[in-house]
Amino acid sequence: MNVADSERAATRLRHSGFAISEDSSSADVVIFNTCAVRAKAQQKVFNRIGVTRHSAQNGHQLIGVMGCVAQLEGEGIFAQAPSVRMIIGTQATDRLPSIIEKALTRDERILDVAQRREGEVWDVSFSERHSPHVAFVPIIEGCNKFCSYCIVPYSRGRERSRAASEIIAEINGLMRHGTKEVHLIGQNVNSYRPHSIAGLEQVSGATPFSRLLRAVAATKMPRIKFTTSFPRDFHSDIVAAMDENGSLCEWVHLPVQSGSDRMLRLMRRGYSSVDYLKRVDYIKRSTRNISLTSDVIVGFPGETQQDFEDTMRLVRLCRYDGLYIFKYSERKGTPAATMSDTVSESDKTARFLSLENIQEKIQEEIYTSYVGRELSVLVEGHSSKSMESMTGHSTCHKVVNFLGKDDLLGQIVSVRITEAKSHSLWGELV
Ligand code: 5AD
Ligand code: SF4
Repeated sequence: MNVADSERAATRLRHSGFAISEDSSSADVVIFNTCAVRAKAQQKVFNRIGVTRHSAQNGHQLIGVMGCVAQLEGEGIFAQAPSVRMIIGTQATDRLPSIIEKALTRDERILDVAQRREGEVWDVSFSERHSPHVAFVPIIEGCNKFCSYCIVPYSRGRERSRAASEIIAEINGLMRHGTKEVHLIGQNVNSYRPHSIAGLEQVSGATPFSRLLRAVAATKMPRIKFTTSFPRDFHSDIVAAMDENGSLCEWVHLPVQSGSDRMLRLMRRGYSSVDYLKRVDYIKRSTRNISLTSDVIVGFPGETQQDFEDTMRLVRLCRYDGLYIFKYSERKGTPAATMSDTVSESDKTARFLSLENIQEKIQEEIYTSYVGRELSVLVEGHSSKSMESMTGHSTCHKVVNFLGKDDLLGQIVSVRITEAKSHSLWGELV
């Protein structure tokens, strides 16, 4: 989501006549796009601003903070980082050009944490995209779920779904530019509920999200991925749409957060472990071999060894293709921040490592099972290790490296897997 916001900010700025610099030390204006989901990410921003302070103090640079930290901390940032002169909230990205103009001409500090205005356009120029081959297309902004540990509903506001016609038009435009893969993105893509469902075909019993998936599949975009899915809103119609449309890639990111029902209640996730496993069952029973990835938080307040064992059991059952493990990080203003019975840092670390260890073994088995198989890979760039090898993602969202030349960039190729590493696959061009 942050990459998509940066693309949108760059588009607005370029349209208003600004040039985007590759080098922040020589730029006249520096804008930090920020994440507040964990304390560490938030602290990083203030460290980075500290590094830039020197040139700003000499009057060389106008410094701004955009994104979740800007929205949450608001005016407080001026006190914490006096070199900052613009605070641009999560719904003010489109107003960036006028905010900069004001800061420059009036020589005053500007704070804009107001809501998005009616009619603000969501377009992103092709040239500002992070890749010409893969594009992020936001379909829903914000979050209504209010999980007890999470700051996102406060930083990004309530859920707002984009009109289906606008999404389809953007994807058609990307196809004309030669983009091969789109990621429909949002905090909870499957909570997609636009004001009007005009343009979405009626499919009995199907949710607006699965109908959107079918409409996107009808555009003939070669590869379509979507993330993140919220378990409570994950119904079998999504898997049915995937079964029927080969361009909907076989990958679902379905964060579970914990395997303990007691923790899930305290986290206010709105489902039990049985409810979650029912969703996993839909995915595992698909006619396609769908990859499943997840997020887990360890050390939520009050998490006992027994709760943690429930999580380990669930992770073993789900056999995830990938797992992001986070140590619980207290976020001021969330209900969980007032809960006592906190877990010690050393217990959090121990649980993190135990779970990582379990996941590594499962992942090794899964990755090894790909050896000998052929995967369809979109070639996205050079591998970080060598200029002679190329890298890309499979439709099941595995990183695949292979020996190949530059002229393959942007192409979809077939790669036979010869070796499994812990987080990537190695293969040869077929
Ligand atoms: N502490 C740790 N992890 C968190 N996440 C969200 N909020 C917190 C927090 N306060 C994790 C969740 C979510 C992912 C994006 O970040 O696992 O799925
Ligand atoms: Fe945060 Fe929960 Fe919303 Fe995800 S669903 S963004 S964890 S509040």
